[in-house]
Amino acid sequence: MSSKSLKFGNHDYKEAFDAEIYLDMYYGSLRSEIAAGEQIPFMLRSFHDVFSKGEITGKRLLDIGTGPSILSIISASQYCDSVYLSDFLPQCRGVLQEWVDGQLADKFNPFLEFVINLERTGETVTSRENKIRSKIAGILPCDLYKEQPFEPGHLSPFDVVTTSLCLEAVSEDVSTYGTFVKRIAGLVGKGGYVIMYAVLGDTTYYVGEEEFKSLSISREQVEKIWTNAGFTITYSRVNALPENEKTKYCEFEAWYIMAARKQ
Ligand SMILES: C[S@@+](CC[C@H](N)C(=O)[O-])C[C@H]1O[C@@H](n2cnc3c(N)ncnc32)[C@H](O)[C@@H]1O
Repeated sequence: MSSKSLKFGNHDYKEAFDAEIYLDMYYGSLRSEIAAGEQIPFMLRSFHDVFSKGEITGKRLLDIGTGPSILSIISASQYCDSVYLSDFLPQCRGVLQEWVDGQLADKFNPFLEFVINLERTGETVTSRENKIRSKIAGILPCDLYKEQPFEPGHLSPFDVVTTSLCLEAVSEDVSTYGTFVKRIAGLVGKGGYVIMYAVLGDTTYYVGEEEFKSLSISREQVEKIWTNAGFTITYSRVNALPENEKTKYCEFEAWYIMAARKQ
């Protein structure tokens, strides 16, 4: 793909983002070269670390830009009563619905198993998957380009909001990123939490041969934006991508996770 065909924002996503290719490409296994060896274990371990402290709990959880994957809510769903998933694309929401309906057998098993092992509960993958499915209260359309991302629906504030690899994928520049953070902040109740997993210093990512732009942003910029939006960062961790693991498909600087509390 030439750089002319780089995709950004919501319109191109509709045509170019193949949810099933994305799922297979990045979440085909726990460790894959394309997802940069340790990325998924780091992501799952980080979500586990954040939630297993037991401080972040609540009735309602919203995940923003869930895509076709449930990885961002495997740990989080243990600490909330109901879980709302959301994405801009009907094709992503369709994959999530298939999973809720009991299809996509075994698709997320390695990830569920990895998290259960961290928790040391001895729970079975089937039991955990059913538990998560039973908590799904909705799979909602969401567009961060709208001032009210869930309009025409109206959502009351959430106790916990999670988001993974979404903001940098859809923001055209740092200013847009800041606007989207404010929109997400508006969905979090006072004293509620945002937990965000992201890549730093990324410029593009692939879904099949389609090349999508990503906003290259630093930890300092991210934390300043969330702080300015009225949050106190309570946890953040960076894990640099080793030079020798950089490929055409992943050449970002680092993975990043942050938990922040709305004042
Ligand atoms: C890189 S994917 C991340 C998916 C998933 N959360 C993960 O961790 O793998 C970016 C997601 O942003 C979604 N997206 C695209 N445009 C959006 C918009 N305008 N508002 C909200 N999400 C959008 C895409 O459909 C896609 O699922």
